[in-house]
Amino acid sequence: MIVAGGSASGLLSEDLAKTLGCKLANVEIKRFPDDECYVKVHDDLQGQDVVVVQTTYPDPNIIELFLLQDAVRNSGAASITTVVPYFGYARQDKSFTRGEAVSARLMARHISLGCDRVFTMDIHNISVLEAFTVPVQNISAMPAIGRFLADNSVDIIVSPDEGSKARASLAAESAGCPWDFLQKKRIDSQTVEIKPKNLDVSGQTVAIVDDIIATGGTVIKAAEQLKLQGAKKVFAACTHGLFTGNSIPRLEAACDAIFSTQTLERPTSSISVAGTVAEALKNCDILCCRSE
Ligand code: R5P
Repeated sequence: MIVAGGSASGLLSEDLAKTLGCKLANVEIKRFPDDECYVKVHDDLQGQDVVVVQTTYPDPNIIELFLLQDAVRNSGAASITTVVPYFGYARQDKSFTRGEAVSARLMARHISLGCDRVFTMDIHNISVLEAFTVPVQNISAMPAIGRFLADNSVDIIVSPDEGSKARASLAAESAGCPWDFLQKKRIDSQTVEIKPKNLDVSGQTVAIVDDIIATGGTVIKAAEQLKLQGAKKVFAACTHGLFTGNSIPRLEAACDAIFSTQTLERPTSSISVAGTVAEALKNCDILCCRSE
C-alpha cells in the first residue's frame, strides 16, 4: 500500500503513511503562471494499492484531487482508495428550488470517477453517501476526539443540541466520561437559557463537541452559557475546523481551548485521525484482498 497526499492533506497523509508503515508517494504539485494545477507522481505505482488523501476545500483543492487521482491511475496503480477528510460542498444535498445545482451529489459523482472506493470523515449529511457510484464509507472522528479530551482532563462532554447527541455519546464512550446535550429553555419573552439536559457543569471541565465549527456561533453561544452555569473550563473540539471570518478570536474569547483534527490543517489541528483512518483502511475489502 502507498499513500499519495494532496497539498490540502499533507499532515494527515504523512501521519497515515507512518501509522500504516507504508511509503508516502513522491508527488509533485505545482501551479502554472495562470494558476492552473500540475500534478506528477514520481514513483512507479504498477500493481500498487494507492490511498489518495485530499480534502476538497477550498475550490482549487478539488481540481487538485481529480488530477492526483488521474496521475496515480496513469502511474499503474491497481486500486485507488480516495480518502476525503473534509468533504466540501456537502451542505447542498438537494435542490430547494428549480434550477439549483446539487453540489454534494455532483462532487460525489466526480470523485467516484477517479477511484475504486471512497472514505469520508464526519460528512455533514450522511445521505450524500448515496450519490457515490463506488463503495463509500463514512468514518467518525469522535472516538479519536474523545481519547484526546480524556488526555486533557475533560470531565463532561456535551453536544450543542439534541440532534447531534450521538457524537457526544461516541466521544464520551472513548473518553470514559459522562455526556449530555444542550437544551434551549425559554425563561421569559426576552430570555432563552441553554443548559445541559441532565448534568450539572459547575466546577467541571466541559468539552463541547461538534462535527464542524464554521462561524463559531453555535459553540460560542454554548460556551458562554456553560460558563454562566459555573463550568470551570470550557473546551471546543470539532472534526472540521473551518473557522470562517473572525471566528478564531471570538472562539478564543469564549473558550479556554479550541481543538480540531487534521481534516482541515489549522493551528488548532492537534487531534490526529491517522489511526482512525488507518483502522478503516485495514478493514477495507479491496486493500485486504490485494495485500494477501
Ligand atoms: C450543524 O448542523 C453543525 O453540526 C454545526 O453545529 C454547525 O455547522 C456549526 O456552524 P457554526 O460554527 O457556523 O455555528
